[in-house]
Amino acid sequence: MIELKNINKSYIQGKNKYHVLHDINLKIEQGEFLAIMGQSGSGKSTLINIIGFLDDQFEGIYNYYEHPIHEYRRAQFSKLRNQNVGFVFQNFKLIQNITIADNVALPLLYAGAKRAFIKERVSEVLKAVGLAGYEKQLPKNLSGGQQQRVSIARAIVTAPKFLIADEPTGALDSKTSAEIMELFKHLNQDNQTTIIIVTHDPKVGAQADRLVHILDGHLTEDQDHHKRKVRARQ
Ligand SMILES: Nc1ncnc2c1ncn2[C@@H]1O[C@H](COP(=O)(O)OP(=O)(O)O)[C@@H](O)[C@H]1O
Ligand SMILES: [Mg+2]
Repeated sequence: MIELKNINKSYIQGKNKYHVLHDINLKIEQGEFLAIMGQSGSGKSTLINIIGFLDDQFEGIYNYYEHPIHEYRRAQFSKLRNQNVGFVFQNFKLIQNITIADNVALPLLYAGAKRAFIKERVSEVLKAVGLAGYEKQLPKNLSGGQQQRVSIARAIVTAPKFLIADEPTGALDSKTSAEIMELFKHLNQDNQTTIIIVTHDPKVGAQADRLVHILDGHLTEDQDHHKRKVRARQ
């Protein structure tokens, strides 16, 4: 599904160039539940912004379903992003003055979906994240864990091929965080949605099926929890 070959990324600031990702090689198959773990500043967000088609400024090869994404123009990139990826962030990024249903509906509105379909689909995904009946509530009346569930509902409403979650449990206590990870696990198993989670928390990382470590912009270890072995790096 996703194949990165020798990806390098630098940020330019004035006369300085910061080389943040070094020769990243990574293959992700459809249906995988992968965690990318590394300390703050190691390049996790930079890497998943590339994987999620948010950043087209990189060197190297990115094949997506065998299409050479690195050759795409910016407009093609945005289209690819809108049609394929759902994003979940640490701070939920909900719009505070509109209802839960309207927050979840946004990606469908952008995609031009019909009103009746939107209503039905929004209820369906709210149910899938354990928030049936919360349509008319405002985000501020929900707990952190519930708000993250809403943002997950918003991320899956268009049935994307893959989900990217950047520190999705970073603002949650450990019990709530475990519940959110359970939800990701279910979404992965029930719908075969590929899930890529970024975390600096080993407890969160351990719940994914596969764990990739990143250190100072280098991918180091790649563990498959099912097989309990370190696989050969692709
Ligand atoms: N827009 C940017 N401009 C310049 N440097 C950046 C930018 N974004 C991130 N960096 C730097 O790149 C490195 C990796 O950042 P990031 O990918 O956000 O790490 P992580 O998500 O693992 O904390 C850090 O040293 C950070 O300061
Ligand atoms: Mg980050």
